[in-house]
Amino acid sequence: MGVSVTRNDAWSGRDVLSILDFSRSDLEQLFETADRFSKKEADFPRSLADKIVATAFFEPSTRTRLSFSTAALKLGARVIDLSPDISSVLKGESLADTIRMLDSYSDMIVMRHPSEGAALLASEVGHVPIINGGDGSQHHPTQAMLDLYTIKKLKGGVDGLRYAVVGDTRYSRTATSFLYGLSKYKPGRVYLVSPEGLKMRDEVRASIEALGLQTEELNELPPILDKVDVIYMNRIQKERFPDPNEYEKVKGSYRITASMLADAKDAIVMHPLPRVNELAYDVDSTPNAAYMKQAGFGVPVRMALLHLIVGGEAW
Ligand code: NCD
Repeated sequence: MGVSVTRNDAWSGRDVLSILDFSRSDLEQLFETADRFSKKEADFPRSLADKIVATAFFEPSTRTRLSFSTAALKLGARVIDLSPDISSVLKGESLADTIRMLDSYSDMIVMRHPSEGAALLASEVGHVPIINGGDGSQHHPTQAMLDLYTIKKLKGGVDGLRYAVVGDTRYSRTATSFLYGLSKYKPGRVYLVSPEGLKMRDEVRASIEALGLQTEELNELPPILDKVDVIYMNRIQKERFPDPNEYEKVKGSYRITASMLADAKDAIVMHPLPRVNELAYDVDSTPNAAYMKQAGFGVPVRMALLHLIVGGEAW
């Protein structure tokens, strides 16, 4: 086919719990394979033809769950879904027992859970690969993978660019995972832009510093709008506030609109979605808006991931 095929030792059979577990070259292999899955459907290998993929989402999800299901179906898998609201989870069944069941019914489990460490626990009780579709407020590895892929596609690379991560850097697992992902690269500058009350937790800041990623904290975006290439927005993670009064204090405290972007030159605006008030609908018609493309890249990146995990060749 005129393409070079490399053996896939990096991904085969692995759990995907945190982006920190993967090297830059693992990620590059994933992205090259995702490029292939962005092309014509007729060329896709049916590498999951004999597989059953289980999805188990203990928190709401649109994009992660459905793009994983779409990716699995396109590769020929069958998909079973544990809907926690109509399963024995409602009768008090433990996470460990639920995972043990899915482990015996399927070849791979894609899961999401409100508690940090839930995916790790699942990987300890199960034998099949566990893919973390977000647990707690730190890890959402496959979102970070598709975010980096989006930047490569739209900006030509990740190194040397200037980034603003805007909003809830305290509880947003997409923001934290994105920063963990960036630590594998050599970004030019990384600004963390959030109001008081949504600043990064000390332990997360310490991990990011230990990874060698330099960041600068700011309260407002406008002063740096013309100095960044990527604006990574996120939603206030209302459901993760231990105290509802703390959420009341910060809700509506940041928002990006089309008129603000006049100063932004060719910066791309990313957002893992869903958006609430922080991203005005009028941004959609600006050339900066990249979040719908970003969501679309979820399918080829997750196809590449599933393909590599079942031992498919890397392109
Ligand atoms: C995010 C999540 O669940 O962490 N959504 C997603 O996967 N795209 C972000 C959010 O809920 O705000």
